[in-house]
Amino acid sequence: MDKVYLDNSATTKPKSEVIEAMMKPLTTTYGNPSSLHSMGEEAEKLIKQARRNLARIIRADGREIIFTSGGTEANNLAIHGTLDTLKRYGNHIITTKVEHSSVLTTLEELEKEGWEVTYLEVDETGKLDLQQLQKVISEDTVLVSIMHVNSEVGTIQPIAEVKEIINKYKDSKLYLHVDGVQALGKIELDVSNSQIDLLSLSSHKIHGPKGVGGLYISEDIRLKPQFSGGGQEMGYRGGTENVPGIVGFGQAAELISGNIKQATDYMQKLKKRLAQGIINNLNGVQINGPELKEGVAHILNLSFRGLKGEVLIHALEDKNVYASTGSACSSQNSDLSHVLQAMGIDDEAMEGAVRFSLSSENTEEEIDYVIDVLTDIVPQLRKIIG
Ligand SMILES: Cc1ncc(COP(=O)(O)O)c(C=O)c1O
Repeated sequence: MDKVYLDNSATTKPKSEVIEAMMKPLTTTYGNPSSLHSMGEEAEKLIKQARRNLARIIRADGREIIFTSGGTEANNLAIHGTLDTLKRYGNHIITTKVEHSSVLTTLEELEKEGWEVTYLEVDETGKLDLQQLQKVISEDTVLVSIMHVNSEVGTIQPIAEVKEIINKYKDSKLYLHVDGVQALGKIELDVSNSQIDLLSLSSHKIHGPKGVGGLYISEDIRLKPQFSGGGQEMGYRGGTENVPGIVGFGQAAELISGNIKQATDYMQKLKKRLAQGIINNLNGVQINGPELKEGVAHILNLSFRGLKGEVLIHALEDKNVYASTGSACSSQNSDLSHVLQAMGIDDEAMEGAVRFSLSSENTEEEIDYVIDVLTDIVPQLRKIIG
């Protein structure tokens, strides 16, 4: 079997249409979007189109989207940018224990500067504690930052309920930032309905190029830019735009537009097939995270008792299967997953955790191949280690 790529939460394969679209600003429309001549205008038009494409899938206005270098920068800008303008209204931030490192490390640094941060607990499925949120939120809270979909275990957080709780503090300055990096293209996002104030997005999780992302900023919100320059991106992000990257992101967004339900129904089917196939064939396997139908369609986190996730990843690679132990962005860190720890998963299960993450390009044949490979190698590895 050719490469079976099941690490789509880490990154996805750029679609051929995306690569093709990116060639235009690399070869012919290479003007600087800020230039006044027609070549500049043409490049600017390409960016506008990408902005419109992205706005359409999250039901925003194009003027509310700015492009960044990725989800990490979008998270940093959302947090630092709001806090720089909100510090006179309060000193308290709320997040969860299971956020992406780009949020957690940013907030840990802010704690050192004197901000008070509450890290909400999650239950055994990774879902945040709404009652705790209700208890800790106060007039002093200026920012709530929650990820929509957990990148390691696929939990979908109850953003609407979070917003309902926040709405009781409507009169104070309190913003809701949502890290939507793993949600884009996997669940329907509607910023107008959900009243999200800031939403972080990333291109390379939806078959676009790496190094480009976006931040939705609701029109009534003002952020302090984190780097100054020529006033690009509505003044929020100085610097000549990454036109090919932005065009690729816009094209990737266009390709998923109107297609989310069909794609996620298909991935749910593959996820169920994979989970059931493995669990039926092997002992000592558990699902980490929500029940199959409750979790996001593309993420399946399983623990193989008695094995180390890392060992299994390499054994899978020998058979041309690519998966990961958790978030790629934190896998250099050899500590056990902060997400699984927060969920109260026991040490043996944490050590044996593997994340399989799907895309709509995976096939049933690939899934069956992975089931066969695991059915073969897991007992062998257990025998060697045991
Ligand atoms: C939930 C989440 N937020 C943020 C990021 C960072 O995005 P980027 O890789 O575009 O910086 C990731 C990447 O894995 C992610 O999964």
